[in-house]
Amino acid sequence: MNMKNIGVIGTGKVGLGLIKHLANINHHILIANEGHPALLSETASSFGGSVTAVSQDDIISRAEIIFLAVPWVAINQIAEKASSASGKLIIDATNNIISLQPFKTENLGEVSTGEHVQQLFHTHHVVKAFNTLTAETLQNPTPNDLGKTVIFLSGENDSAKSKASDIISLMGFEPVDLGSFKDAANLQEIGRPLSGIEFIKVKGSKVAHKQ
Ligand SMILES: NC(=O)c1ccc[n+]([C@@H]2O[C@H](COP(=O)([O-])OP(=O)(O)OC[C@H]3O[C@@H](n4cnc5c(N)ncnc54)[C@H](OP(=O)(O)O)[C@@H]3O)[C@@H](O)[C@H]2O)c1
Repeated sequence: MNMKNIGVIGTGKVGLGLIKHLANINHHILIANEGHPALLSETASSFGGSVTAVSQDDIISRAEIIFLAVPWVAINQIAEKASSASGKLIIDATNNIISLQPFKTENLGEVSTGEHVQQLFHTHHVVKAFNTLTAETLQNPTPNDLGKTVIFLSGENDSAKSKASDIISLMGFEPVDLGSFKDAANLQEIGRPLSGIEFIKVKGSKVAHKQ
């Protein structure tokens, strides 16, 4: 298997959940947060040999796939750094929360959050995924003999979505493509119907079609 470098920027509640599942998939996992990589080395080694703490710049230059697990207010700064590179798959787990108390989201008007992040990371292909599960469920999906926990995804580029789906499957989840960012926004964004719910795709289940 061709070992890829996969980066995770953000090692808080969501980042650690992503790293937990990525650590098992036989790729090199590079992780970074806001601080110096030396401060993250113990966290990295707690996941085993495939996980290494590096700088954000290292992730941007070396990783083919980059997970964004940072607060919404940090993405502009990361996008600016990422503009020095191109063609990466950015898997965006963020929600547009700008304040927790009081709870407030950024109003982007007619633009969906996925479109906004894609505009910021305009030299790359963005796929929005992992933003609907709570961090607790992401860390510990409900074990279920009937099937796997669903990860909803959306984006404009089919080949990027297919690559993201492959990684999601390797991580032990069931990818479900909701379509373009616009198609998905009313379902996938924070406060929308899919937000905060764990869905299980039952093995062998089919969608019923009306004749
Ligand atoms: N919590 C949830 O249940 C949940 C569920 C779905 C989606 N989300 C979304 O996922 C994202 C992360 O949420 P979280 O709960 O994991 O947040 P969190 O626990 O506060 O962790 C945020 C992480 O981002 C890092 N960070 C902050 N600013 C940064 C910067 N400029 N550059 C690089 N790293 C930076 C922090 O670094 P330090 O460790 O150095 O401070 C920390 O590791 C948010 O957009 C959130 O809306 C959250």
